[in-house]
Amino acid sequence: MKFFVDTAEIDQIKELNDLGMVDGVTTNPSLIAKSGRDILEVTKEICSIVSGPVSAEVVALDADAMLAEGRKLAKIADNIAVKVPLTWAGLKTCKTLSDDGIMVNVTLCFSANQALLAAKAGATFISPFIGRLDDLNLDGLELIEDIRTIYDNYGFETNILAASIRSANHMSECAKIGADVATAPPNVIKAMANHVLTDKGLDGFMADVAKAGIKIL
Ligand code: E4P
Repeated sequence: MKFFVDTAEIDQIKELNDLGMVDGVTTNPSLIAKSGRDILEVTKEICSIVSGPVSAEVVALDADAMLAEGRKLAKIADNIAVKVPLTWAGLKTCKTLSDDGIMVNVTLCFSANQALLAAKAGATFISPFIGRLDDLNLDGLELIEDIRTIYDNYGFETNILAASIRSANHMSECAKIGADVATAPPNVIKAMANHVLTDKGLDGFMADVAKAGIKIL
């Protein structure tokens, strides 16, 4: 499973990228607003750091304006994936950009039917939002499973990009199901390293190091 980092914070992207943990980046209007930077400028900087797909989201709602924005975003770098919402206008934009050879990430997916439509429209990525479904007491991981089944049934090549990930557990569950990519905030990716028994084991080893005066350097 590929890891995309879900942030527009340059320092955090660099830190994880240097560790080989970043196969791509996703942003959205809320993350861009949080960064306090111009969308074109910050996206260009991200694309210069990460070689994998960098999702940049359109902000228009009608198809013509969305297409114009998508074409402008795609010019930033070769690794841009234009992010469009799962609306009829977004699907129309997805089809046109995909036919032009531009990567498209269809976002705000909350049902298997929506994912089916995105694949038919030639999306490179479909982004089902796990956490926002869980927030409503629905099962976000079940949606990932359903989309995996449907795409495999018919050989759709659209990549399942599990999004709105809130916990390290979401990451391992997505990997078990077979999501192609998971995008998560930096703190969730870092939390994947944590285990209480690792901490406890290390405390024990360090106590013995102190007791026996073990030195390596
Ligand atoms: C990524 O592409 C999505 O925009 C993001 O994962 C949404 O996450 P949230 O539901 O935590 O805002």
